[in-house]
Amino acid sequence: MNDMPAGPVYLDNAATTFPKPVSVLEKAMETYRRIGVSPGRGGYDLAAEAEEFVRETRRKAARFFGSSAPDRVIFTGNATDALNIAIQGMLHPGDHVVSTRLEHNSVLRPLYHLRQKRIIEYDLVPFDGKGFVDPADIIAAIRPDTKLVVVTHASNVLGTVQPIREIGRRCAEHGVPLLVDAAQSAGAVPIDVDGWQVAALAFTGHKSMLAPTGIGGIVLAGQTEDIEPSRFGGTGIDSASPVHTRDFPYRLEAGTLNLLGIIGLSGSLDYLGEAGIEAVHAREMELVTKLRDGLSLITGIDLYCAEDLSDHVALLTANVRGMDPHDVGAILDADFNIAVRTGVHCAPLVHESLDTSPGGSVRFSVGPFNTGSDIDLTLEAMKEIARHGGKG
Ligand code: ALA
Repeated sequence: MNDMPAGPVYLDNAATTFPKPVSVLEKAMETYRRIGVSPGRGGYDLAAEAEEFVRETRRKAARFFGSSAPDRVIFTGNATDALNIAIQGMLHPGDHVVSTRLEHNSVLRPLYHLRQKRIIEYDLVPFDGKGFVDPADIIAAIRPDTKLVVVTHASNVLGTVQPIREIGRRCAEHGVPLLVDAAQSAGAVPIDVDGWQVAALAFTGHKSMLAPTGIGGIVLAGQTEDIEPSRFGGTGIDSASPVHTRDFPYRLEAGTLNLLGIIGLSGSLDYLGEAGIEAVHAREMELVTKLRDGLSLITGIDLYCAEDLSDHVALLTANVRGMDPHDVGAILDADFNIAVRTGVHCAPLVHESLDTSPGGSVRFSVGPFNTGSDIDLTLEAMKEIARHGGKG
């Protein structure tokens, strides 16, 4: 599927997918070589061509995410950047927020920062033993002053895909906008911003969308008006005014865009369109199921929230009983040339709830270029590690 030199067995695709499809990289190089000027700034033809490329990528991304408002696709550096812009932009002093204990620090830390500054208050709802948030708990936590609900679509620790359609419907009934963190789901599972009544969705390009690092975005629903910029600067329009433009998408974009990243994202959207995200996801889930089945037969391994993989992205979290997960990861790397991520994965409250703090867990995350043999090697390695190091 991808003509790359042999490397480690790479099972850290939830951090970033690796390798990227060669066709995406080659197309990005070719296009950037041809039109790599500042989009929307100069009056010459090449600048107009670059701007049109950016506009076309907004249209493609809007279609991909089920949005009918391409001018509300805002380009950012990554999902963290997108979440910071959305959270800071959608909240006002005195607002209350409902979020969940499944969140990544890219949601928890902006919320904490605003609370420390006494700007907002928030409550976090729990997840159940299978790794899912109950929409009823979110609705029960809504207060008269709740102005935002923020929910991760797919947990980066557990892989569980949350019922966003149901949460969106119920938030809309209560008139509270829903912000979705799609860092782990974008490109892995279909998303329908308009149909799910999502006010804003944050995504990154470099995970399941298979684009390079450094490009992400916010998909704002057409009717989302109440969002203020938190950064100001050049947009290429209305340049004589001291006031940053209110027009979308430029209201939330300042400075020269990451054109190379946008070109990469455009190529990866084409790639996913041709490969079909359902097909890619189904193949990855076959491998994850094989891994889950194999790990569950090894004495001394604890798996978390992996009994039912039907609403799941392609990752698993485990521990070898009696071993520090960092040691397991180090042995996998040094002795078996297998790359995984260990620790709390920037989602400390998930581990508090699982009772796996402070060490966290070992996370195995599968991408489109993994093979059955990668899983076989990993299972053999984990058998060895559990036999020698663990407490069966
Ligand atoms: N948020 C990324 C992860 O879960 C980096 O690994």
